[in-house]
Amino acid sequence: MLVAPLFAGPVAFPFAGAPLGFGDGTAAAQTDAAQSEISPQKPTGHFRVQRPAGLTGADALTIYNRILDDMVAVSRLSSYPAAEAYRYWRRYNTVPYRSAQHGERYVNNYANAKAGAYRHFEAAGEMPVGAVLIKDSFAVTKRGDVFSGPLFVMEKMPTGFNIVSRDWRYVMVMPDGSLFGATNGEGSERVEFCITCHKLAGFENDDLFYVPEKYRVRFLN
Ligand code: HEC
Repeated sequence: MLVAPLFAGPVAFPFAGAPLGFGDGTAAAQTDAAQSEISPQKPTGHFRVQRPAGLTGADALTIYNRILDDMVAVSRLSSYPAAEAYRYWRRYNTVPYRSAQHGERYVNNYANAKAGAYRHFEAAGEMPVGAVLIKDSFAVTKRGDVFSGPLFVMEKMPTGFNIVSRDWRYVMVMPDGSLFGATNGEGSERVEFCITCHKLAGFENDDLFYVPEKYRVRFLN
């Protein structure tokens, strides 16, 4: 799948994300980066990311595990029920990876039980009605601050919901918990760019791109 060149167009994410309040910028917190990529400042979870440019997958996972509660607490504010439930679903990526297509953020992919076939990736076939795929995201700035990013949702709706989107409802929840847009609902036009890009994944893939090979969980059962 050769997708990268197609994404060079005017598709951009018009928001920067909301700070989670981590990191106070003190020099002390930034010393001795060699010891650890992530330096705890308080046992309560405030931390500053050291050497953010050189984060390994394990570092990204450590950061993610620390902020997930906060991220879910905020996305719960949206009226979208799955925005809270998803954290108990199966995750399909081993560690958070950077997604150029979702604003250069670190992202994760979850699927609900109805979307269980997602585990077969390209061989998954068409998703059934009720299948929900969720991608959450966060950003790490050059200074080492951690920001929560939007929540990206695809939900398979009944046949006829939207021919262009192949009956997928695309939803984006902002980092403050507000709804940016939902296909056929509030701010529908704002999430049209999701459809435009996801169609490039192709009919045979049900407009899904799947997790990049390198980060796929290999299920043994
Ligand atoms: C420029 C292309 C592009 C745009 C725009 C885009 N996506 Fe994606 N999306 C991808 C790619 C590529 C993947 C898989 C790799 C990854 O995670 O980056 C993906 C993966 C996903 C997934 C996981 C399901 C799958 O396809 O495997 C969801 C959910 C998702 N995107 C939702 C959204 C929503 C909601 C929007 C709009 C707010 C959106 N995307 C906009 C390219 C795009």
